[in-house]
Amino acid sequence: MRLHIVKDYEQLSSKAASFVASQIIMKPDSILGLATGSTPLGMYQNLVKLYQEDMLDFSEVVTFNLDEYLGLDTDHPQSYHYYMHTNFLDHVNILRNAIHIPTGNGDINKSGKEYDRAILKAGGIDLQILGIGSNGHIGFNEPDHILKTETHMVRLTKETIEANSRFFSSREEVPREAISMGMGSIMQSKKILLLASGESKAQAIARAVSGEITTVVPASLLQLHSDVTIIVDEEAAKLIN
Ligand code: F6R
Repeated sequence: MRLHIVKDYEQLSSKAASFVASQIIMKPDSILGLATGSTPLGMYQNLVKLYQEDMLDFSEVVTFNLDEYLGLDTDHPQSYHYYMHTNFLDHVNILRNAIHIPTGNGDINKSGKEYDRAILKAGGIDLQILGIGSNGHIGFNEPDHILKTETHMVRLTKETIEANSRFFSSREEVPREAISMGMGSIMQSKKILLLASGESKAQAIARAVSGEITTVVPASLLQLHSDVTIIVDEEAAKLIN
């Protein structure tokens, strides 16, 4: 694991964008695995800026998002479809049919299988971008005694519902279930970029980087991957030994 500790969120966002930009420059038809949440927002803003300045071309890029809430329409302001389009995808020249986001409605079993097939057909993910939950989740693979390899339906933990309630007008509105890429597609990605900012992520980052490898800290499994880059700010790096 390569660890970069930067001063603050602003530096994290520009370093992460540079990392993704170099991936696209080296391989214009990169298959990117994308995350939502507050952590990558600054990175997306920087990538949009690079595109507007003619420094990046997304015309051959293909994307697969990690997850989506169940039961929200794609135009719901808190859906990950809406997030991805408004914060990133609508502002760059990516082809509409190159965008993949798990479907949170209908037959989840079936759409999960189709999603995994589409990832395989595309050739697998070149660069997977990850945030981390304060409980150590990646994607919506929540701490458990077993983890699933395939894209699957997830029951969100109390901790995740609480953490994500900041985006909704009340805790009750947060969907209790989601669809998430499993550990298989994540671990089979050629490269992984893990981002974390702020003190609330410090414990999860310390356990991911140097704690025991255990399914109760899903991010700790990343220690088994041969090409992981971690960019964290000083606050999130606080508890790393
Ligand atoms: C989002 C995702 C989650 C988030 C994590 C951190 O697609 O898969 O694992 O990355 O919950 O969220 P933020 O960045 O909002 O703290």
